[in-house]
Amino acid sequence: EKDKELIRSSWESLGKNKVPHGVVMFSRLFDLDPALLSLFQYNTSCGSKQDCLSSPEFLEHVTKVMLVFDVAVSHLDDLHTLDDFLLNLGRKHQAVGVNTQSFAVVGESLLYMLQSSLGQAYTAPLRQAWLNMYTIVVAAMSQGWAK
Ligand code: HEM
Repeated sequence: EKDKELIRSSWESLGKNKVPHGVVMFSRLFDLDPALLSLFQYNTSCGSKQDCLSSPEFLEHVTKVMLVFDVAVSHLDDLHTLDDFLLNLGRKHQAVGVNTQSFAVVGESLLYMLQSSLGQAYTAPLRQAWLNMYTIVVAAMSQGWAK
């Protein structure tokens, strides 16, 4: 349907290297919620936002995040096949101290990145399509917090 096409074509238009877009997303995330920086303390260079955003370990995480979105975009027709993977991913985030409430601000940061990267192509239907997909991904990850 139309939503899937909007997601696929916009994701493709970001180019092959998604890391810079992921950096924009996490930069926004740390502006909106600076406390999240401390969850990356496994990496001592994450004392300040700028240090963190340029550290190799952090860029690795950004790469992993973009890969998860990439997998989701390529499974729009069968997103639920990712449920187990996403549940386990949620568990890992619970273990490092992430709160499910933080996913709302992560979502805002994702939309901010899409808006700044896509410019004119960022429309209300596109925003809604991404939000719908993100909501499904987050719901699956949130199962990792369930008792
Ligand atoms: C792993 C933090 C959001 C995907 C990790 C790790 C930390 C972390 C500390 C373990 C160390 C590392 O691998 O770098 C956070 C924080 C987030 C966040 C604070 C936002 C509040 C996300 C999102 C995704 C994601 C939205 C993808 C949709 C991953 C992946 C791993 C990971 C794939 C590796 C898991 C593994 O080792 O199998 N995250 N993360 N993260 N994160 Fe995140």
